[in-house]
This record gives sequence, C-alpha cells and structure tokens, in this order.
Amino acid sequence: MDFLELAKKRCSTRAYTAQKVEDEKLARLLEAARVAPTGANSQAFRLLVIRSEEGLAKLAEAANFYNAPLAIVVCADVEQCWHRSFDGKCISDIDASIVSTHLVLEATELGLASLWICRFKADVLREQFHIPEGLEPVNLTVFGYPDGELKSPDRHAAERKPLSALVVNEHF
Ligand SMILES: Cc1cc2nc3c(=O)[nH]c(=O)nc-3n(C[C@H](O)[C@H](O)[C@H](O)COP(=O)(O)O)c2cc1C
Repeated sequence: MDFLELAKKRCSTRAYTAQKVEDEKLARLLEAARVAPTGANSQAFRLLVIRSEEGLAKLAEAANFYNAPLAIVVCADVEQCWHRSFDGKCISDIDASIVSTHLVLEATELGLASLWICRFKADVLREQFHIPEGLEPVNLTVFGYPDGELKSPDRHAAERKPLSALVVNEHF
C-alpha cells in the first residue's frame, strides 16, 4: 500500500470483536516495532505484550481499552535513552512514540484495527505487570478486528486542519 494511503486508512477504533490476533500478525507487529529508529539507535524500549484473559483483565484496571484482544505497552528505558548533552533532555517519549507509530501503521497494513491510548493509570500498570524501575510505560497500543465499520480514509479533509493552518514558510 502506498504510504499516504496507509496513513490515511489508519484510524482509532473503539469497538472490537472477540477474534484473536493471529500469532503471525503479532510477530509482524513486533518486527515493525523492532526496526523503528531511535535516538542514537539506543533502542531503549521494551514491549509488554498482553493477550491472555488474565492479563487483559488486569489491564482493565488501568485503562479503558475497549476490549481489544491484544495490547502492547510501549515502555521507555529512561536510563538507557539518549540524553541531549546541552540541557539533559531525555528523548524516551519520542522514541516510544515512533515505535508506537510503527505498530499502529503496521496493524493497518495487516488489516487490523488499533487504538493508541495515553489515558491509563501508570501506577496500576506498573504494579499489575511488575514493570521494573527505570522503565516507564509511555503508550498503550491495542489491536484487534473492528466491530463495525472503520472510519473513512477521507475523513481527514474535515477532521484535520488544512496545511494553511499548519505550515509557515521561512519565518513566522
Ligand atoms: C498520543 C496519543 C494519545 C492518545 N490517547 C488516547 C486515549 O487515551 N484514549 C483514546 O480513546 N484515544 C486516544 N488517542 C486517539 C486520538 O484521540 C485519535 O488519534 C485522534 O482523535 C485522531 O483520530 P484518528 O486516530 O481516528 O485519526 C490518542 C492518540 C495519540 C496519538
């Protein structure tokens, strides 16, 4: 699929059927995450995969994930990530978000629906899944088959700002 076509097709889905995500598709999602670029190639992230009934029940304590059958929590290794020497800025959220972008776009390519979720209780996630100190859950991404129609790829005409509101040439 052409990249823009894929990017326009990806949408947030908030209703899933009970159909599980196949192992082969999970493997492709994880590979897409693995090849994501990270600052200084630090690869300072870990992926927590949750798809057991027990795990999903625990996840429900931390977030509304719309009963998707597969969740991947993108955790940043805040100690291993690249820090900007001038001011010490840690880029772990940026790295984790590129990884998450790879995940949701690959999902679209695979015919899966997805949702990127930041509204979660990080402390509950940490406790329920024994996330070690030094790792920070940054993004919760969930996947499955949509229960109903996906949003239209044409929605961006109305749902996104026009370029004229976003782009400034040469100077503000
Ligand atoms: C960083 C980020 C955080 C988000 N967090 C949530 C969330 O906690 N819950 C939710 O339902 N959707 C969440 N979304 C989905 C956005 O609401 C959605 O991407 C946006 O409204 C555009 O819609 P679209 O993804 O269908 O194009 C998040 C998306 C991003 C990129």
